[in-house]
Amino acid sequence: MAVALLVAAGRGERLGSGRPKALVLIGGRPMFEWSLRTLQALPSLHRVAVALPPGAEIDAIGDGVVVVQGGATRSHSVREALRAVGAGDPVIVHDAARPFAQLELFERALAELDRGDVDAVVAAVPVADTIKEVADDDRTVTRTLDRGRLWAVQTPQVFRREALERVMAESPEELLAGATDDAWLIERAGGSVAVVRADPSNIKITTEFDLRLAQVLISERQP
Ligand code: C5P
Repeated sequence: MAVALLVAAGRGERLGSGRPKALVLIGGRPMFEWSLRTLQALPSLHRVAVALPPGAEIDAIGDGVVVVQGGATRSHSVREALRAVGAGDPVIVHDAARPFAQLELFERALAELDRGDVDAVVAAVPVADTIKEVADDDRTVTRTLDRGRLWAVQTPQVFRREALERVMAESPEELLAGATDDAWLIERAGGSVAVVRADPSNIKITTEFDLRLAQVLISERQP
């Protein structure tokens, strides 16, 4: 049976809502609850650990759900949630900041991992924009990347437990602090990671604009 880590411990400073991002209401529900309900609909799921910011209080959220205090960075929150979630393999990691991830995306990612030849599978979309690398100092372009090979990575990300536990135990603190996704830790440790095609509607809510977009997407879903 699988276990899931729902990381919801970000402060949401870029959103400027004055409360932790995962507790901001979308369509009348705290943001993290949308993904939690989707995860709870997965037949293969055993338990979920939700990482929340220190002091965050939430209502009872059901059997098989454990709440933990998150860490200083995203990967630290993943590490805390992994310690708390109990037995289960594979491990699904999902950002509470992506409330629109669909059940079928979780299922396809798990099915891809189940094929057996990689350590992790990450949701991703081919990039639509041309991406340029720019020098920090004077903003001149240093190179233009080949768009045909670029994918923008999202969550869910699903891992063989042994691979995720190993990088969480062995990665130096500064790497955990700098990791913007956990699959990168697997890659740099020599593990293999595959992408599964996701939908651009699986947005990450970071700014006030994203929140406005989210309210529109939710209102389209609700009767
Ligand atoms: O900050 P960012 O939007 O990249 O965060 C991605 C996800 O990681 C969010 O769901 C956020 O709540 C979570 N996070 C966390 N612990 C942190 C920082 C971010 O659980 N210390």
